[in-house]
Amino acid sequence: MAKSPFYCNRSEAFEAHDDIPLSPKDAPTIGEVVYRRYSRRDVIRGSLGVAAAAALFGSGALGADTAAAKQAPESRFDFDEVAAGIDETHHVADGYEAQILLRWGDPLFPDSPPFDPNNQSPAAQLKQFGYNNDYIGFIPLNEDGSQALLCVNHEYTNEEVMFPGLGRQDKEACFSGMTKELVDIEMAAHGVSIVEIAKQDDLWKVRLDSPYNRRISSLTKMSVDGPAAGHARLHTKDDPDGQTITGTLNNCAGGVTPWGTYLASEENFHGYFWTEDHDGACTPAEGLGGDQAESYARYGVPALWYAWGRYYDRFNVDREPNEANRFGWVCEIDPFDPASTPVKHTALGRYRHEGAECLLNKDGRAVVYCGDDGKFDYVYRFVSKGTYDPDDRAANMWLLSEGTLSAARFNDDGSVDWLPLVFGENGLTPENGFASQADVVINARLAADKLGATRMDRPEDIQPNLENGRVYLMLTNNTKREADDTDTANPRGDNAFGHIIEMTPPDGDHAAAHYAWDMLVQCGDPSVAGIGAVWNPDTSESGWFACPDNAAVDSEGRLWVATDQGEYWDRTGKADGLYAMETEGDGRSTAKLFFRCPVGAEMCGPCFAPDQETAFVAVQHPGTDGTDKYPGFERASTFEDPATRWPDFDPAMPPRPSVVAITKKGGGKIA
Ligand code: FEO
Ligand code: CA
Repeated sequence: MAKSPFYCNRSEAFEAHDDIPLSPKDAPTIGEVVYRRYSRRDVIRGSLGVAAAAALFGSGALGADTAAAKQAPESRFDFDEVAAGIDETHHVADGYEAQILLRWGDPLFPDSPPFDPNNQSPAAQLKQFGYNNDYIGFIPLNEDGSQALLCVNHEYTNEEVMFPGLGRQDKEACFSGMTKELVDIEMAAHGVSIVEIAKQDDLWKVRLDSPYNRRISSLTKMSVDGPAAGHARLHTKDDPDGQTITGTLNNCAGGVTPWGTYLASEENFHGYFWTEDHDGACTPAEGLGGDQAESYARYGVPALWYAWGRYYDRFNVDREPNEANRFGWVCEIDPFDPASTPVKHTALGRYRHEGAECLLNKDGRAVVYCGDDGKFDYVYRFVSKGTYDPDDRAANMWLLSEGTLSAARFNDDGSVDWLPLVFGENGLTPENGFASQADVVINARLAADKLGATRMDRPEDIQPNLENGRVYLMLTNNTKREADDTDTANPRGDNAFGHIIEMTPPDGDHAAAHYAWDMLVQCGDPSVAGIGAVWNPDTSESGWFACPDNAAVDSEGRLWVATDQGEYWDRTGKADGLYAMETEGDGRSTAKLFFRCPVGAEMCGPCFAPDQETAFVAVQHPGTDGTDKYPGFERASTFEDPATRWPDFDPAMPPRPSVVAITKKGGGKIA
């Protein structure tokens, strides 16, 4: 879920491509040799990084044992993988059905107007499925899970393929085409959809007359609790008490709590803030924010990715300097009460929240894992003060209001230290700019800087696996990391392909102060030596991937990984997709491609129904990312001229982000 619209990454988009030395496809790679010759721990414990191994053994040593015949380990996943590649549509493994369940603009209520892309309105959008579906939460309504609430985030909008006659709205043009009407539609297209679905004759159907259906948007009133509630830095003209926030935005990944609520994370909130103090290329002046300048700089506020602040003072930091402090939180939504007010839990800290996977620790406390999706940013964990009460759901809804937020330090010896972000401790004191716990959570990034947390390669989803007791951390990429600024947990400079770390809490205690960690895989093409990918050598040509982003664990306790390569899919020549990832036994660190996205899309929200008979995936922004590199098209998509019109393939329809329900033909469990 990268998250920023195409134009938002302009500077990245124009970075020169890597000059990757190629080696013959049949030559063993450094990663392969390292994998075979050394245990995983030897490799990740740093004395033996990939580059070091190459230096130690030289190219002559690389052929050593690749010829040895080896029995492929038995896969835990029973399907024939999809061939990697890229085209205008989706592909699912043979024997599976991919049903387009919910598309941008689909009705959510009996009185929703039909979707008309040429006559959009904010009022219509507020009754329709929103844009850019991301995280998917599945909350069963009956015992067999054939009726359920699907909770879906709508992360952001892509104006160039959303609106007719507009084209790309980039920063250089300062969004000159963005009228107030279009901004209002964008604001309505963000947020969350809650929708009841039911399975009938092996097909999922949306129940429009469900009392639970709800659209939450950047206009929905939310309450705020925890250490920052009511704090002066949350006071605005509209909300002088700092207790009621209007809306949520850039909801990326999320979570479902054990008490059946939905957690929607706020990720790239900084992009929505505006200033008039910018140059002609919409680059904000330096030093904005007055006495909050350090915080503004650390969070990238304002970034001017959207024109909302041109029409709404609250998104203009010149006029409302505290509004940006009211975003970057985790929101808890009770999907069983459509009249309920969502709550922003400030105890979980303010940063670019990728997700919020929640579990109950063995002592009954709630634990939430969160990544901060920034280059060199941190991995966080929240542990509640109170414990879960199976008989008191209302009380459980306060569990995320109070507890301990920590940031992770990954040590070279394979251990992880959780560093508590507590006011008054370890330098989080007034002399260092922290006057209270409110300051600590509002400036969680600055607090974690102070504690010496490990600067990671863009932490995305963090997925606990309750079956094996371990926790999987997706690190999507970081091309800004220099070769002389690596560490054992982020071992590659110019890390364009990402990696996955496995954390192990001792005795299954997710509140422990120290964990162990291990590398599961270093992503990228294992046949290109210079990339330094480390996969199980049995990984197939279609099975390796780049840029892990979202993850899920299925009902069988197996890991699935969704990818987002953004503009740079051409570095692999593969569209994004959903991969089955082996974590156990001889097959560990192999992957298999199960579902492939259409061109320009990223893969989000993998989610499995509890009976394992349906996999829900979210295809986000089809037809947008990197279409200038799509052979035969080679230009930016617009509404009128998109690289694909997935999923409708109707000349009257633009591409539409959609949730897809995947089932096995004839029924049965997935994979
Ligand atoms: Fe919205 Fe970090 O992806
Ligand atoms: Ca997840």
